[in-house]
Amino acid sequence: MKVDGTAYRSLWWDDKAQALQIIDQRWLPHDFRIEQLDSMDDFTRAIKDMHVRGAPLIGATAAYGMALAMRMDPADATLNSAFDLLNETRPTAINLRWALERCRNHLAPLPLAQRATAALLLAHEIADEDVEINRRIGLHGLELIREIAAKKTDGSPVRLLTHCNAGWLATVDWGTATSPMYQAHDAGIPLHVWVDETRPRNQGALTSWELGSHGISHSYITDNAGGHFMQHGLVDMVITGTDRTTRQGDVCNKIGTYLKALAAQDNNVPFYVALPSPTIDWSVCDGVAEIPIEDRDGREVSHVMGTSESGEIASVRVTPQATPVANPAFDVTPNRLVTGLITERGVCDASAAGLAELFPDMAAATTKA
Ligand code: MRU
Repeated sequence: MKVDGTAYRSLWWDDKAQALQIIDQRWLPHDFRIEQLDSMDDFTRAIKDMHVRGAPLIGATAAYGMALAMRMDPADATLNSAFDLLNETRPTAINLRWALERCRNHLAPLPLAQRATAALLLAHEIADEDVEINRRIGLHGLELIREIAAKKTDGSPVRLLTHCNAGWLATVDWGTATSPMYQAHDAGIPLHVWVDETRPRNQGALTSWELGSHGISHSYITDNAGGHFMQHGLVDMVITGTDRTTRQGDVCNKIGTYLKALAAQDNNVPFYVALPSPTIDWSVCDGVAEIPIEDRDGREVSHVMGTSESGEIASVRVTPQATPVANPAFDVTPNRLVTGLITERGVCDASAAGLAELFPDMAAATTKA
């Protein structure tokens, strides 16, 4: 997508530097900084400390991390240690393990002399596939938005609510939850997006930055405001992303998603989840019982970062010095609260049958394993 008129992906390989370039998202929306990753330390730090974030993007970044490792040393020991180092960085989003397993399975049988080239080609393939998956999610989501718009006889905007940043910054391009928004806006459908701030890290500010850059009308709202807007008939549809969806359609996403789904159900607001197939964990069924939830540094809760009136970017404490904090980064929305899953192959019920019908190849592969 575009930043000040220039098209960007959220990461790109620099052939000359033989390194990965990323947008360091810790500074957005206050500053646009590009960072070069050219060591394994750089890669693990960038994922763990959220210079890059969002399930699909950390998967793609990890694939480039494997490529870098293979360029330094294509031995089996390095292949395995790079896998472990990267896999440990963040536990919840399944795209990370999905990308790493894909890399290792592809590279392990190859002769050492071929591994560096093959690893880089595979990382490019994973990145390009992500872009195409998200473009297709957008086309299917666009039809849902179009149906809502068709019922509005007064030409008023379709009002969407989203949580966290499931935008192009969280993927390689387009975003998942935002792809239908971009495509609906480009198709001339009037929209207004309620953007949850998404404490503690305020990824809603990233979403606002993206939507603003694309000219989409939106309002940044507190995390607690969504239920109120739904009660007053001001939300036509919720679309969120997901970090891991189980084979029965339970959705793990940024903390607070579950409460939005509860409010949506109580107010008959359709609650959709944009789901790229690499985010399906076919090996787990019950999301609440089986998905590991990342527990992050309490400083993310006790402090907030922003720009002061004088233009200085600063982190300030919002709690008393000694206050203990808890910081679970994700929660699970059970499938019964999800109206539908918007995938690259179409929209399905959030159920084992719905997912198996759209992805019979993947569902069958898991049953055999
Ligand atoms: O902790 P983050 O910022 O990596 O969490 C991101 C989310 O929860 C997104 O909603 C999810 O990864 C989907 S991104 C297309």
